[in-house]
Amino acid sequence: EENVDLNGPEFKQLMEHLASLPGIETRIHHEKGTERVLTEVYLIGSTLQLSVEDMKALPCVERVVRVSEPYRVLGRHKDDQRLSYFDYNGLRFGQDTLHVFAGLCAVDTREHVEMMMRALRDHGQVCTRMGAYKPRTSPYSFQGHGKACLPYVFELAGKYGIKVIAMEITHEDHIDQIREALHMTGNPTGVMLQIGTRNAQNFELLKAVGRQQEFPVLFKRGFGITLDESLNAAEYLASEGNRKVIFGLRGMKTNMGDPHRNFVDFSHVPVVKRLTRMPVCIDPSHSVGSRAMAPDGLLDIMHVTAQGVIAGANMILVDFHPEPSKALVDGPQALTLAELPYFLEDVRIAREAYLRRAA
Ligand code: E4P
Ligand code: PEP
Repeated sequence: EENVDLNGPEFKQLMEHLASLPGIETRIHHEKGTERVLTEVYLIGSTLQLSVEDMKALPCVERVVRVSEPYRVLGRHKDDQRLSYFDYNGLRFGQDTLHVFAGLCAVDTREHVEMMMRALRDHGQVCTRMGAYKPRTSPYSFQGHGKACLPYVFELAGKYGIKVIAMEITHEDHIDQIREALHMTGNPTGVMLQIGTRNAQNFELLKAVGRQQEFPVLFKRGFGITLDESLNAAEYLASEGNRKVIFGLRGMKTNMGDPHRNFVDFSHVPVVKRLTRMPVCIDPSHSVGSRAMAPDGLLDIMHVTAQGVIAGANMILVDFHPEPSKALVDGPQALTLAELPYFLEDVRIAREAYLRRAA
């Protein structure tokens, strides 16, 4: 239920008044809260001349906030502790939900995709990750099967009840390729577009992805820039209109001879949740980068996953492979299908512990 009647005379009067203000542009966003949909009207331009008190007196206005923080749409402003959500293909994403996206870092064969999806279905999972377009350090490394694999990936997703696939895109043309393949296969699944760490500041790609509102977006933090720079980059998506954005932590480059592929940054989960209204994803696979194991017999990937979940993570993106030694990308960090139930069990235990303490 909307908090205002968008077709009513009062809202019309408000919008007419705002349109008459010189040097001011308006943008409307609908924020889905626990009980109702909040309509937020953003005033962009010379807002310093406006008085908060005058704005409060206008029809339909419940609250006026002067936003000076850079993350205008995605940020959490002043005392606003409200939770908001977005729904996509039957699933709800917010700062209090948790979804596991286990799957292939890179699609290699149809058989491996099917084995992965069957295992997910058998363990009650409805989300996965599938890499078709791979951003590689070397131009000579496998770059992904691209659009050629999309039809069988989507068809198998439908067969095994997968509702959302996280899939990285590296060029805006990939959005159309995904849309076409979904259409061709009868829309059997949903897709969450992923912006990888290497494209975190590819502003034209961000703008293009932000302009479409059909697919939600997983934005991964840049591995060599500040958190503030990454949050600003995520804001590009929302400023163009798409606020169905999840913020991904995947470790940072530190060049300090770290034992992990990247320095694990999951202690930033609550920081991002405090600064913004985005759900937060953790990627233990790209953070740790290997199957290293502690003396307690647990893989470091399992340890850091539990740390991220305890910190309040809302999504886990994690690499699995039926035969890691045959994986064409990032095999050394892939968990096996036999490890899937243990991984899910660890997530359940950590989540239960988190929920016991969280407000
Ligand atoms: C996969 O997810 C990325 O493409 C991969 O981590 C890139 O790393 P590399 O090309 O250095 O192997
Ligand atoms: C990935 O998730 O496949 C990936 C390339 O991750 P990142 O952008 O974090 O390196």
